[in-house]
Amino acid sequence: MQDIIRIAVDGPAGAGKSTIAKEIARELNIDYIDTGAMYRAIALKLIRTGVDYNNPQQLEEMLKTTDVDFADGKTFLDGEDISGLIRTDEVSAVASPSSAIPAIRYKLTDLQQAMGQRKSIIMDGRDIGTVVFPDAEFKFYMVADPEIRARRRTEELIMKGEKAEFESVFAEMVKRDKQDSERAFRPLKKADDAIEIDSSNLNIEEVTNLMLSYIRKEK
Ligand code: DC
Repeated sequence: MQDIIRIAVDGPAGAGKSTIAKEIARELNIDYIDTGAMYRAIALKLIRTGVDYNNPQQLEEMLKTTDVDFADGKTFLDGEDISGLIRTDEVSAVASPSSAIPAIRYKLTDLQQAMGQRKSIIMDGRDIGTVVFPDAEFKFYMVADPEIRARRRTEELIMKGEKAEFESVFAEMVKRDKQDSERAFRPLKKADDAIEIDSSNLNIEEVTNLMLSYIRKEK
């Protein structure tokens, strides 16, 4: 049997994690798991049900009967494909503060660890190299200049036919990065042994090749 490899990709919003992780998954023929989508699925359920994530009883009741999955590039909430519903500002705005709640992190971390148990995966998020797979075979921490990240995100939204203005995308991103990296429990943080990749001045192909060169060198 071939050895299982787990590749952790962490970093702030808009650094290119999901685009690059998908490319690497395709190159290596392994599964890609977007953990941000899983936090977004929980946020969508909170919005739909009106559950207050600061109310431990309400939250516990909700989490007991909530199933989140990420498979074949799609995100599922209680069996429903919600991939098209979770990329909104409203969901982003709830996903960031609710992901600071330990009960939510425990639940999703368990699910994510189970996903990397039997097959090779590349997983992106905020705490993959530090918490979910501290023993991952490869760890990358992707960064990029905040203005460049906001510019890319704005262009991405416009390409999708959505209205987006650089100033508001930038402000929203800076706020989310601050929340994600300053939360008390399992914040966004570079693992000590992660390789830092700055994508500010590199295109998708260059970043993918750079990361693949690290992986292929040691595999
Ligand atoms: O990567 P994203 O923007 O889709 O993630 C949405 C939110 O979920 C983000 O603001 C932080 C949170 N998140 C997290 O706390 N831990 C992860 N592993 C992934 C995402």
